[in-house]
Amino acid sequence: MAKDKIVLAYSGGLDTSVAVPWLQENYNAEVITLTIDLGMVDLESIRQRGLQVGAVKAMTVDCRQTLVNEFLFPALQAGAIYEGQYPLATALGRPLIARCLAEAAQSEGAYAVAHGCTGKGNDQVRIEVGIAALAPELKVIAPIREWGMSREDEIEYGQAHHLPINASQSHFSVDENLWGRSAEAGQLEDPWQEPPEEAFAWTKALSNTPADPAYLEIHFELGIPTQVDGESMAGIDLISHLNTLAGAHGVGRVDHVENRLVGIKSREIYEAPAATVLHAAHQALETLTLTKEQARTKAKISQEYADVVYNGLWFTHHRQDLDAYVRSTQRYVTGTVRLKLFKG
Ligand code: ARG
Repeated sequence: MAKDKIVLAYSGGLDTSVAVPWLQENYNAEVITLTIDLGMVDLESIRQRGLQVGAVKAMTVDCRQTLVNEFLFPALQAGAIYEGQYPLATALGRPLIARCLAEAAQSEGAYAVAHGCTGKGNDQVRIEVGIAALAPELKVIAPIREWGMSREDEIEYGQAHHLPINASQSHFSVDENLWGRSAEAGQLEDPWQEPPEEAFAWTKALSNTPADPAYLEIHFELGIPTQVDGESMAGIDLISHLNTLAGAHGVGRVDHVENRLVGIKSREIYEAPAATVLHAAHQALETLTLTKEQARTKAKISQEYADVVYNGLWFTHHRQDLDAYVRSTQRYVTGTVRLKLFKG
């Protein structure tokens, strides 16, 4: 009889690499890895790694375009910023990861999907709620939540299984996609401590940013950015370009003690240069193009929209209804905004 199959969302890091043999042993199943590019991923090298650690098949999918069109730009139009600070990069990526997992499991005939989220965060909820909404017949396995191994145990387990792992110590738990970079855990958990410079990767410290400002013009059509400085740019390029440009001026650093949906507070460091610039520009344009009543109602919708995204409720009728309201307001949001990038 053919073995059962599990599709594992695979980043190539220690946790999900150890999860491959662990799932094979503990679920007596074949493991297919799925690596999803949401912006910062070398798909081919991670694919190879998936095969090296024992996957029967290693799949990849470039979802950047979908991320931008179906998740990031609608969230930008909605003005979705969680607790007034976090532009929701990780939270917007998770439902798309859930959708890709469900599709891969269906096309490969797998009975289960697996992910590398821990039991403390929002991400486990976002992925599992997403799967439950889209493919309720699939079982979801969360090895890291189940196995009770410390980092040292994982390294030992990996060595015992001859996995080619280089357990390069990152001090933080990092997640990134086109819309931003999230860092949490380790010394960041002490809110009394200033975040160390090594927590940042996309943005310059203010002491190292240019002494002269940069001016920038962003053009929006119906609430969607389409041009930078008069040049037409498609979503992925436009966002990447703004990440580089604004990051160089130290724009987009966020230090946020946030309220997780699982009920704990967590100190997070975010870098979101493009998202910060685009939200600021979009809001500025709306101040000129929406009426007072629209602006006030939309502010409430923005907050609700951010909570919905943060809480993993993307695949709901409620989110669709909020989108319908937002889309209607955007029929006025066309125009060009001039910004000044200077010292953050
Ligand atoms: N706290 C943020 C959120 O819930 C970021 C999570 C980042 N995930 C990670 N594994 N570092 O959206």
